[in-house]
Amino acid sequence: MRIGIIGAGRMAQSVGWLATQAGHEVMLSNSRGPASIRDLSQRIRCTAGTVYEAAEFGEVIFVAIYLQDYHAVPKAPLVEKTVINPQNYFPHLGRIAELDRGELTTAEFLARYLPGSRTVKALNSILVEDLIPDARPASAANRRALPIAGDDMEAKSTVSCFLDQIGYDTVDAGTLSEGWRFERCRPVYCRPLGKRELQEMLLATTPDSMVPEGHWYAYRALHG
Ligand SMILES: NC(=O)c1ccc[n+]([C@@H]2O[C@H](COP(=O)([O-])OP(=O)(O)OC[C@H]3O[C@@H](n4cnc5c(N)ncnc54)[C@H](OP(=O)(O)O)[C@@H]3O)[C@@H](O)[C@H]2O)c1
Repeated sequence: MRIGIIGAGRMAQSVGWLATQAGHEVMLSNSRGPASIRDLSQRIRCTAGTVYEAAEFGEVIFVAIYLQDYHAVPKAPLVEKTVINPQNYFPHLGRIAELDRGELTTAEFLARYLPGSRTVKALNSILVEDLIPDARPASAANRRALPIAGDDMEAKSTVSCFLDQIGYDTVDAGTLSEGWRFERCRPVYCRPLGKRELQEMLLATTPDSMVPEGHWYAYRALHG
């Protein structure tokens, strides 16, 4: 499968590397142009392009830039495509009124900007530094599961299959509007959990279930 990545930072590099290891073709992109990431792409064994080229190249698009930079994502090439939204909302980088008011989930916010795309929330609930070390083959007993959410079943199936290929089980948390269940400061956010534990915790998460900022680092320090 061809994976177009918008962004070339930490998430883009880790997911890009896991994807090429799994046999996918990857194109990275950034705001400064392909020449600025040529060496990096060679190390990951992928190609570099402009943001528009990456959006056109990918059958699946991984949007690995900050949510506040959403306007850099080109709309036309993404119509009908599966778009993976790993973006978390950090208000200090710029406030988004609909998110502050709780009217939209982060995934709904991106999906609304990309009419006709098949947006799936995924890969937001894992720290970038855990992405490569926690990846395991499907047969592993202690495989980590990641939550996903989306309105398009086919796109969710594509993403679930992709996550399986790069080392993770998935738990479907429901539609894009249910994506809040694993956004920042929710109990499962960035917690290394197996499939059953993740399913149970997602079901038990209510709108009032919040954990303190950074609890995921404390959990990591305690449990390794
Ligand atoms: N870090 C984590 O642990 C983690 C975990 C889960 C999800 N996420 C989410 O993943 C996303 C990326 O995070 P990250 O940690 O990978 O950030 P990062 O390392 O800072 O990378 C951001 C990338 O975006 C590119 N970029 C910025 N503005 C752009 C634009 N207008 N057009 C194209 N590219 C642009 C930057 O390259 P240039 O500046 O060269 O353009 C850079 O390559 C965020 O939404 C974050 O919430 C992060």
